[in-house]
Amino acid sequence: MRQMNFLTFFGILFLSVFAFNFHFTTADPDDTVDAAEIIESRGFKSEVHTIVTQDGYILTNFRIVHPLSKNINSKPILLQSGLFGSGDDFIVTSPNGFLDESMINLRDSPESIDYKRQGSNLGFLLANLGYDVWLTNFRGNYYSRNHTKFDPDSSEFWSTNFDEMATIDLPTIIDYVLDETKKETVGYIGVSRGGTTMFALLSDKPEYADKVKPFIALAPAVFIGRSYPRWVRPFIENNFLTSLLLDHPSECLPRRISKRLRSWTKIPMVNAIFAMIKPSLNLIFRVNESRAEVYLSHYPAGAPCWDIVHYGQFASNGFRKLDFGEKLNLVKYGTSEPPEYHLGKIRSNDIVIINSVGDRIVHPDNIVKLVNNLNVKPKKWIVINQTDFRHGNFVHSDGTHVNFFSYIFQILAGY
Ligand SMILES: *[C@@H]1O[C@H](CO)[C@@H](O)[C@H](O)[C@H]1NC(C)=O
Ligand SMILES: *[C@@H]1O[C@H](CO)[C@@H](O)[C@H](O)[C@H]1NC(C)=O
Ligand SMILES: *[C@@H]1O[C@H](CO)[C@@H](O)[C@H](O)[C@H]1NC(C)=O
Repeated sequence: MRQMNFLTFFGILFLSVFAFNFHFTTADPDDTVDAAEIIESRGFKSEVHTIVTQDGYILTNFRIVHPLSKNINSKPILLQSGLFGSGDDFIVTSPNGFLDESMINLRDSPESIDYKRQGSNLGFLLANLGYDVWLTNFRGNYYSRNHTKFDPDSSEFWSTNFDEMATIDLPTIIDYVLDETKKETVGYIGVSRGGTTMFALLSDKPEYADKVKPFIALAPAVFIGRSYPRWVRPFIENNFLTSLLLDHPSECLPRRISKRLRSWTKIPMVNAIFAMIKPSLNLIFRVNESRAEVYLSHYPAGAPCWDIVHYGQFASNGFRKLDFGEKLNLVKYGTSEPPEYHLGKIRSNDIVIINSVGDRIVHPDNIVKLVNNLNVKPKKWIVINQTDFRHGNFVHSDGTHVNFFSYIFQILAGY
């Protein structure tokens, strides 16, 4: 019996090497290209908008331009990815998403969208429904790895975290888009950290509620408690590791690492192992296993390591700014404890939260805690009741979980 398994194992290994070498001779066109090229490959026009923040970070953002947009007078919608993500996350999920002018008619009846045909790229779906889509990139990711003064490989550049993404990058981008489009408000859809940063901004500068309508938070990681996977704990709750990361500001999981991993998958043996792991990607994460290489080419896209430290602190500190330790906190904040983001100060009436019972990173209890901390209740709060709908499925999917997009489109149709 044991021998049989052994033989089967090598049989599969051999066949995988064979099959996947063949497979790789036809690389996916979305594999090695950047946002602008992906946007144009679907028949849209792309615009690149470089925005410089007051502290010198150069942020590169992409706009998906529908050829009819001039006639539609469309609402700008900002799409903000989660930790280690980039704007690419909203346009590489599935190979389709081509410009389709007939889709504009479905704007008020999103339940009739044929996702099999139109795909599961939120960016292209919104653009086809006639929205003015902006893929925004915070400091430190692949597209926003530049500075007016600091070398992107220096520790000065990486001495930052999502506190500044929330209080500097986000309002700078919002004001830029409002100015560029001459609109009164933007819509904002943030996944995970993309939601965290908006909750932080609306606590810190409550007046931004007037500029952001609606704010749709997909699994916002505001309270994460100890719900993140057990195996990560020793890393992010380790004092030695956190002080090491705090003392040596640097970049974590840059895209060049995912590119390297990606290139390793071209080595037959690695490829064979990868081929065997891939089906479980679908079973465990419910992503399209045939696009695993494409996902790996675009994610992770880099973030300041301080973000990891910060998320680790959330479990014990709650929703506060980064904790540098008493002495440095006094220097930086003037208080020994890092300042709290007062969720009670948020006065937006246009917050929509969507989360899933299957999310193990932002557990439903954490969302309950978030909602309980708000003084103004969310306009809408939708809980997806599917145990196999995971945290990552808000972005990547195998096509079985995309119906929740219709909630988003229904909400947007009311603005
Ligand atoms: C980074 O920004 C500087 C301007 O401060 C510019 O000259 C340079 O080309 C940029 N580098 C990249 C890789 O975009
Ligand atoms: C969620 O799904 C479970 C199992 O399918 C069901 O028992 C439960 O009633 C559902 N809850 C809601 C709120 O729909
Ligand atoms: C999964 O990926 C393959 C390869 O890119 C593609 O042909 C297929 O349509 C995708 N499936 C879905 C549901 O997006």
